Amino acid sequence: MVIGKPLFTVEQIQRKVQELADRITRDYEGRELVMVCILKGAFMFFSDLVRHIRVPMTVDFVSCSSYVKSDSVGEVKLHQDLREQIKDKHVILVEDIADSGLTLNYLREHFLQRGPSSLKICVLLDKRERRLVDVPIDYAGFPIPDKFVVGYGLDYSNMFRNLPYIAVFKKST
Ligand code: IMP
Ligand code: MG
Repeated sequence: MVIGKPLFTVEQIQRKVQELADRITRDYEGRELVMVCILKGAFMFFSDLVRHIRVPMTVDFVSCSSYVKSDSVGEVKLHQDLREQIKDKHVILVEDIADSGLTLNYLREHFLQRGPSSLKICVLLDKRERRLVDVPIDYAGFPIPDKFVVGYGLDYSNMFRNLPYIAVFKKST
């Protein structure tokens, strides 16, 4: 297994996170937020992002996994639901990466049924060319090509989440 050199360094990530947090602060001025972390992948991004947002908020955590059955059919399973009510609240779902879009699409539809005042999506990485469902991404950090990446919360087999930077992962043959 090989971890390549950083695709995004610690400094690049921190700058981008600050930029996203500033945009969110501007957009939600005078309102209150429910920030939702999609575990496990978003944990590091989430904790950096929320500490830079200057808007009153509560935080909540959901855990889910997606199983792609074929190229066009995928299933998402919610292992841990929200603890808070989101009816009439302003909600932002925070995810590490949008790949097929199945996870975010599922969570979005699921949570919209609970009647939030608004529901937006924030991702650090956007692998656009892999998208299978058209889900609106309101805040996106970096667009990336179709490469498997690890670090800064992202894993291969639950490993490498602790790397402070993001790198391309290659399975050695
Ligand atoms: P989606 O439902 O296909 O958009 O999948 C999103 C999930 O797939 C993310 O939450 C990640 O856990 C995982 N994923 C997609 N691409 C990568 C990658 O390059 N590295 C690590 N995990 C990834
Ligand atoms: Mg994930």
